[in-house]
Amino acid sequence: MRVENREKTMKTGIMKGMAWCIASVALCLLLTGCKKSTPCNQEGECAEKKECGMKKAAITNMLTRVSVRQFTGEKISDEQVEQLLRCAMAAPSAMNKQPWEFIVVNDEELLGLLGESFPYSRCSNGAAVAIIPCGNLQLAIEGAEGFWINDLSAATENLLLAAHAMGLGAVWTGVHPSTERVKQLQDILSLPEHIVPLCIVPVGVPAEEPEVKDKWNTERIHYNGF
Ligand SMILES: Cc1cc2nc3c(=O)[nH]c(=O)nc-3n(C[C@H](O)[C@H](O)[C@H](O)COP(=O)(O)O)c2cc1C
Repeated sequence: MRVENREKTMKTGIMKGMAWCIASVALCLLLTGCKKSTPCNQEGECAEKKECGMKKAAITNMLTRVSVRQFTGEKISDEQVEQLLRCAMAAPSAMNKQPWEFIVVNDEELLGLLGESFPYSRCSNGAAVAIIPCGNLQLAIEGAEGFWINDLSAATENLLLAAHAMGLGAVWTGVHPSTERVKQLQDILSLPEHIVPLCIVPVGVPAEEPEVKDKWNTERIHYNGF
């Protein structure tokens, strides 16, 4: 009889515990969740003023990214570089060809040479590394090779967003389609002809906090035709 009572009490306890868990999860979802259709404001906050967790973080990161051109000279870790490259390689690519190669320049002398040869690249402004996203034309779509530029642009934007999310600074500095710049960079980095650099991205610890530009412009939005 006593054993039966003990079992009954245990069962009731377990049921109560489960009910509490379910109620707590439901309450958390209610308090923290937001409708998928709810737009975020300029700061990436949910218009309903609820915390949106990952959604808020991702949107805020996009809306606050800014080009950084001055760095402290501090080094960044190999893990940070790997994280940046993982994000770059997570980008979409036409037919999922992933026709990319990434050259990481962390050698001081080579960084200096890049800065001298391409002053607009800001590599001599205290950057910890320079990452050069390149298209590998041998991996590009046959007959539609030009898509590599789109693929590498997507990867570069991922790289910039990842740097910003990690508290680092970076800027896209243009190389392709200037044939002169492409050739010069291919020579410096000993790249074969089919490896075409799209841009140079210096990355480092920011030494400046440039103001975020508000680019939202409703005049540039056209529904169902121009
Ligand atoms: C294709 C491309 C080429 C660029 N080239 C350079 C460059 O050579 N030097 C530089 O300092 N910034 C360069 N930028 C960065 C732009 O100047 C910058 O993105 C733009 O002014 C908007 O500012 P924001 O990135 O802070 O929003 C380039 C950006 C792109 C997308």
